[in-house]
Amino acid sequence: MSNSVTTSSTFVRNLSHGTLRKLADFLDPLDTWKTILVDIQNKSTGKLRYTQLHLKRFEGLIVKGKSPTVELLYDWGTTNVTVGELVDILVRHRLFAPATVLLPEVTRPVEAETALVSQDTVALESTKEISVDPGPFPSGFCRFSYHELMRITGNWDDRPTSMGGNKLGEGGFGTVYKGCLKNTHVAVKKLNILDDISLDELQIQFNQEIQALMVLKHDNLVNMVGFSCDSEHPCLVYAYMPNGSLLDRLACLDNTPPLSWHKRCIIAAGTAKGLEFLHSNHHVHRDVKSANILLDEKFVAKISDFGLTRASAKHTSSTVMTEKVVGTTAYMAPEALRGEITPKSDIYSFGVVLLEIISGLPPVDEERKPKFLMEVKDEIEDEEMELEDLVDKKMDSVDLTSLEKIFGLACHCLNDKKLKRPGMGEVLKKLKDEVIVD
Ligand SMILES: Nc1ncnc2c1ncn2[C@@H]1O[C@H](COP(=O)(O)OP(=O)(O)OP(=O)(O)O)[C@@H](O)[C@H]1O
Ligand SMILES: [Mg+2]
Repeated sequence: MSNSVTTSSTFVRNLSHGTLRKLADFLDPLDTWKTILVDIQNKSTGKLRYTQLHLKRFEGLIVKGKSPTVELLYDWGTTNVTVGELVDILVRHRLFAPATVLLPEVTRPVEAETALVSQDTVALESTKEISVDPGPFPSGFCRFSYHELMRITGNWDDRPTSMGGNKLGEGGFGTVYKGCLKNTHVAVKKLNILDDISLDELQIQFNQEIQALMVLKHDNLVNMVGFSCDSEHPCLVYAYMPNGSLLDRLACLDNTPPLSWHKRCIIAAGTAKGLEFLHSNHHVHRDVKSANILLDEKFVAKISDFGLTRASAKHTSSTVMTEKVVGTTAYMAPEALRGEITPKSDIYSFGVVLLEIISGLPPVDEERKPKFLMEVKDEIEDEEMELEDLVDKKMDSVDLTSLEKIFGLACHCLNDKKLKRPGMGEVLKKLKDEVIVD
C-alpha cells in the first residue's frame, strides 16, 4: 500500500514512514505542527479534535526523541482522514512545501501574498512592509511587521490617548495601543510574555485568537484586521472602537455622558446576539466582561478577545475540564472557578454584566460591601436591599417594569446551578422584547 502512488483519497494512515519523515522535516521546526493540530476537526461533529492538553502530550514526545508531526499524523490517521484533507489544511496555512511532498501538483495561489480579507478593509501604507514570510500562521488576514506596528503607535507610546499618547488600555495579556493606518484608526494589542506564561503558551493563545476570529464573523463581534508575529511580542490588530469599552462608559471615564437606559438595553441585546452566535458555533468565550464589550461609533456592542475561547462541546457532553482556570474572578460562575468549561458559565458572566448595566457599578470593589457585584442578587432577593437602591443614579429615567425584567433576567443567569440558567437564545429573546417595548 505504501508503495502505491499517493492521491488525495489515500488515507494518511497508509503513508510510508519515509513520507511522514519528509513532512516532519518541514513541520517539526518552529513547532509548525501545532498550527496543523489546532485546525483539525472531528469529521462527524465539526468540532476541534485536539485540546491544549493533547498538545502538551505531543510536546512531551519531543524529549523522548519522537517527532510530534509523525505522532500527530499517526493519531489523526486512526480517524480515516485522507491526504486531501491534510493538504487542504497545509494549503490554508500556506505550507506549500510539505503539501507538494504529498501532492506534487499542488500549486501556490498567485493572490496569496497580498490577499486582504478583512471586512473593514484597511488600506496599507505600503505592501512592501507586510512580511510575506509563509510562516506557520493562517492566511486571510493582513500580516504586518512588528516595526510597522511600532511606527503607527508612536513607538508604543505608553501615555494615555487623552494625554496625547497612544495607550488605550491594558489587560491580562498585553497592552492595547491606538494606531493609524492610512487615515483609518486601528487598535493594536501587543501581547506580553508574563512570568507564568511561556512563549509557547502565548503562541497558542495567539493562534487560538486568530483561528477563532477567522471563522467567527458577526456584527456583534469585534473585527480583526490582522496580526504580526515576527517578534517576541506577537500583536493583534483590531478595528478601533471609538466609544471604548462598556466598563469605561458605565464609569463615565474621561467625562463621557452616562448611557441612557434605552442604550444600555440595546447594548445588552447586541452582546447577547454576539454570544448567541458564539454558542451556536460551539464556542465558549470564557472571559465575558464589560471590558471585553467594546462600542463602535454608533454604540453597537462588539465582543472582543476570543483568545480564551475553545470549542466547547465534545463527544460525550458539552463540558470540558481545563487544568488552568482562566477568566476574571468577579465574573466567574462557581463551576468555572473549578475549571469546568461550559457555555453556561458565559451566561453567568453575562448576568454580572447585566448587574453592571443596571447599577453602573464596577464588578469588584475592595472598599464596597458587598465586594463582588454578583452578591447584590442575594441581598435584593433576601430583601436586605431594594432594587431601586441598585439603579444607577446617573440615568435620567428608567422604566421600572423594564428594570425589573432585566434584573429578573440577571438573577436567572446568576443561578449557582448551571442547569437552571437560561440558554443564550432565551436571554436574547427576553432582551429583544425589552428593546422593542422600550
Ligand atoms: N479595538 C479596540 N478599540 C478601542 N479600544 C480598545 C480596543 N480593544 C481594547 N481596547 C481598550 O483597551 C482596554 C484593554 O483591553 P485588553 O483586552 O487588553 O484588556 P481587558 O479587556 O481589560 O482584559 P482581558 O485581557 O481579560 O481582555 C479595553 O478595556 C479597552 O478600553
Ligand atoms: Mg479585553
